[in-house]
Amino acid sequence: MVIEEVSKSFGDFKVLNEVSLGIKKGEFFSLLGPSGCGKTTLLRIIAGFESPDYGLVTFDGADVLPLPPNRRQANTVFQNYALFPHLTVFENVAFPLRIKRFPKAEISPRVNEYLKLVQLEGHAHKKPNQLSGGQKQRVAIARALINEPRVLLLDEPLSALDAKLRQHMLIELDQIHDKIGITFIYVTHDQQEALSVSDRIAVMNQGNVLQVGTPHEIYESPATDFVARFIGEINLFDATVTRVNKLDQPLLPAIAPSETTEYMAELETPELGRIKVTTVDEVEPGQKVVFTVRPEKIVISKEKPTTKREDINLFQGTVDEPIYSGFQTKFYIKIAQPAAAADRNTEQKKVLIRVIKQHANYSDEGPDIVWKDDVYLSWSANDGYIVGVKE
Ligand SMILES: Nc1ncnc2c1ncn2[C@@H]1O[C@H](COP(=O)(O)OP(=O)(O)O)[C@@H](O)[C@H]1O
Ligand SMILES: [Mg+2]
Repeated sequence: MVIEEVSKSFGDFKVLNEVSLGIKKGEFFSLLGPSGCGKTTLLRIIAGFESPDYGLVTFDGADVLPLPPNRRQANTVFQNYALFPHLTVFENVAFPLRIKRFPKAEISPRVNEYLKLVQLEGHAHKKPNQLSGGQKQRVAIARALINEPRVLLLDEPLSALDAKLRQHMLIELDQIHDKIGITFIYVTHDQQEALSVSDRIAVMNQGNVLQVGTPHEIYESPATDFVARFIGEINLFDATVTRVNKLDQPLLPAIAPSETTEYMAELETPELGRIKVTTVDEVEPGQKVVFTVRPEKIVISKEKPTTKREDINLFQGTVDEPIYSGFQTKFYIKIAQPAAAADRNTEQKKVLIRVIKQHANYSDEGPDIVWKDDVYLSWSANDGYIVGVKE
């Protein structure tokens, strides 16, 4: 499916701004973004409930915009289930077949096959009000799939369920996707949901697609500071590029394809002083950028790390707040400011860095690091990112 420069306004308000996406056949593709960014509107355009002001939507190369929803072979599962309350589970699922005047003898085996797919075999005779939220959503999924659409559109289908059930249903959805192999387009504002099931994700904000990539790409190399901020926890700093060297040997062979060039850049930040970071984007001395490093990439220790590696960033600080949660501790570390920065700010600004330490085994010193401890923070140039080039 190809979406090309699709734009949509409601009155003066531009909800979608030249959105372009290529979605592969059979892919589990997620549209991820905060509430109001235009996800549902894009889904409704794909489904045919809304038409774009301009742009193109094609399935298998054919323009579908002139087609009404029922001729697009794209069925939608909504958050509120939209079941027929007076019909049984069986009749809800059979409904699309009856509309299509399917031969009576074929309806029952087919409905049972789809009830089995969503694990509702024993519930065929029940009415929707006798079902739990998760079961209702499964009926909706079976009903959307029974016509064998080319695409299943899911608009925040799990948001009405409680957290534990949501996890469970997500795994089931993934299994259903694997079994039937059609394209799923999954809308969510929940980054954990999107990261855990998607083949690829499009991150949206204010009607724009900011980045399309695998969960790993989106998490590990966010294209903009919005993406970095929206996915997971981060530390962000404004910085100025002071030096750039081309690397002969890439440090990230797994992420960077062999033909891309990698650079080691040196940044100056008001809060931390000098930072080393690798980047595949060309940056130049003098450019203003945003630098980010994820909390779990930072190594925290009471002893000074002994490594002599050139690419390690090392800072000293004091534990401002440890938040213990069993499997990990999140620390807020107050950083000792570089001399130059301390000179400039007569009143010392408090710079906090977030660090997350997983507690892997009993010899782990993480839980022993407590409030007011002096600690070292270190991370390699590979673990930070330049996420926004400003000028
Ligand atoms: N029919 C409509 N008329 C006017 N404004 C709308 C309409 N549909 C959506 N909007 C507005 O468009 C924006 C994007 O909505 P939506 O696509 O539902 O976002 P999301 O699904 O990402 O939360 C919101 O500000 C919403 O209020
Ligand atoms: Mg929505």
